Amino acid sequence: MPRIPEKMSERERILELKKEKNAVILAHNYQRPEIQDLADFVGDSLGLSIQASKVEAEVIVFCGVDFMAESAKILNPQKIVVHPEPKARCPMAAMCELEGLIEIKRKYPSAKVVGYVNTTAACKTEMDVCCTSSNAVKVVSSLHDKEIIFVPDENLGRYVQRFVKDKNIILWPGFCPTHNAIKPDQIKRLKKAHPDAVVIVHPECRPEVIDLADAVKSTEGMIKFVKASDKREFIIGTEKELIYRLKKENPEKIFYSIPGAICPTMKMITLSSVAKALENLAPRVELDEETIRKAKIPLERMMEIGRGD
Ligand code: 13P
Ligand code: SF4
Repeated sequence: MPRIPEKMSERERILELKKEKNAVILAHNYQRPEIQDLADFVGDSLGLSIQASKVEAEVIVFCGVDFMAESAKILNPQKIVVHPEPKARCPMAAMCELEGLIEIKRKYPSAKVVGYVNTTAACKTEMDVCCTSSNAVKVVSSLHDKEIIFVPDENLGRYVQRFVKDKNIILWPGFCPTHNAIKPDQIKRLKKAHPDAVVIVHPECRPEVIDLADAVKSTEGMIKFVKASDKREFIIGTEKELIYRLKKENPEKIFYSIPGAICPTMKMITLSSVAKALENLAPRVELDEETIRKAKIPLERMMEIGRGD
């Protein structure tokens, strides 16, 4: 009897389609392990923006949330940018709307606007410079102005204010539901159970959580910190999937995650949605020329400033 050829796995299909369509897959550190495993590049928001600006392939399949895929399009308007799950929208980015941003700018006409990349492309058109969790302190410090409107993450803005004492930072009431839900008691409990563990948290965490940390880092900053550390155990105060990469790159080290620290929108992208997106080269990120032109300015200023951690 002739042998029935084995059905191609979804992973194999994606790798095949990637070649066929001349595509690259960029994935954020919070993506599902199976997505991280087939990505050409896995990183934090800043690393992904830098990578997106260097892509030579014709198609970028962006595995992350909406604002990240939009940034890839802004930096690469001539490329096809596919976001496999358009419903994967960062709730924090949705907390800052263009009208509100224009209003606060009117209230503080001499202030400069520093916008976290976790914002819509429309909001970026009204910003002076963007930042990520890696370089927020560096970006704000680089400005000569004394008054800064910082949107949309209040926790990150408060964290920056600790280092930039000579400026008045006007905060916006936005937050990340995943990081804001991390409570000091969770860190204390883990620390009690693992007294030798180093506590690393993301700057999107509440100030009371930041006060308990040994280090505050972006997701890529955490990867670098762990690699360089001679310690063995780490409590990771961010979305749990970062531990997949941490373990993969540091098999001899031990990591403790925070119960419940999951970003549901990051998990919307699956192997099936990536395969479908590659097959159809859709859904695409489409932005009008004027938005791209204006939003590119603060993004490029941020990239010139570079990493801070
Ligand atoms: P990073 O830039 O540190 O990867 O953070 C992005 C993000 O959305 C954190 O919640
Ligand atoms: Fe947005 Fe928070 Fe998810 Fe990051 S972890 S994408 S800030 S909701």
